[in-house]
Amino acid sequence: MGKEEVSSKRDVKSFVLRQGRLKKSQEEALTLYSKEYVLPFKEEKIDFEELFGNPNPVVIEIGFGMGSATFQIAQARRDLNFLAIEVFLTGFAKLLNWVGQSELNNIRLIRFDAVEVLTSMIEDNSVAGFHIFFPDPWPKKRHHKRRLIQPPFVELLTKKLKSGGYIYAVTDWQEYGEQILEVLGGNSQLVNPSKGFAVRKNWRPVTSFERKGVAQGHQIWEVWVEKPGD
Ligand SMILES: C[S@@+](CC[C@H](N)C(=O)[O-])C[C@H]1O[C@@H](n2cnc3c(N)ncnc32)[C@H](O)[C@@H]1O
Repeated sequence: MGKEEVSSKRDVKSFVLRQGRLKKSQEEALTLYSKEYVLPFKEEKIDFEELFGNPNPVVIEIGFGMGSATFQIAQARRDLNFLAIEVFLTGFAKLLNWVGQSELNNIRLIRFDAVEVLTSMIEDNSVAGFHIFFPDPWPKKRHHKRRLIQPPFVELLTKKLKSGGYIYAVTDWQEYGEQILEVLGGNSQLVNPSKGFAVRKNWRPVTSFERKGVAQGHQIWEVWVEKPGD
């Protein structure tokens, strides 16, 4: 897949494309493993069972960054399938390299704006869970409109979730954490079993962004909500 292929039609984006130099191994990973593990953006719904070759539940991660947590979770949970979405090329190539080298078969990657992927490629009521670990906090007030977790986005996630599915969002930015709690809690189709912030799930590895936040003395804010079953 080409370096320039990522795009978005949206005016206010939740990301800025950082330029990073790829290591040789990452360049090679794009050539070697894209065919098997990378899905191009398409205006066409994905058939998960056909894609993964099994009917296991599918968890979607949005903005996986350097991908180490994604890789660890996918390795630990072979009973689940993972669709990992990220626009940042260096992290994307890094995760692809790990996945390709380990021949992990329960994960696929998409390098595109997650909002467009969800809208165009994901069937309603089909996703078992969403992981959104440390979405860009956009701390300046004039940038708050770029934050990913806002009511229309949560409506989109909720529409794509199966009954019994969950959304797990984590941030190290207190005020964004409160916004996430409010927005997820404010959706009438979702319930928050903890009522407030959740306790960290013991299966969630520390992410690279989290490590930096903790080093700066930030506390971690975890939000877990569910779409009740029938
Ligand atoms: C602050 S980083 C956190 C990365 C990682 N989850 C971690 O905890 O280390 C947020 C990531 O989300 C990605 N991102 C933001 N908006 C996105 C979108 N609409 N679609 C796909 N990726 C997005 C950014 O490129 C960035 O790598």
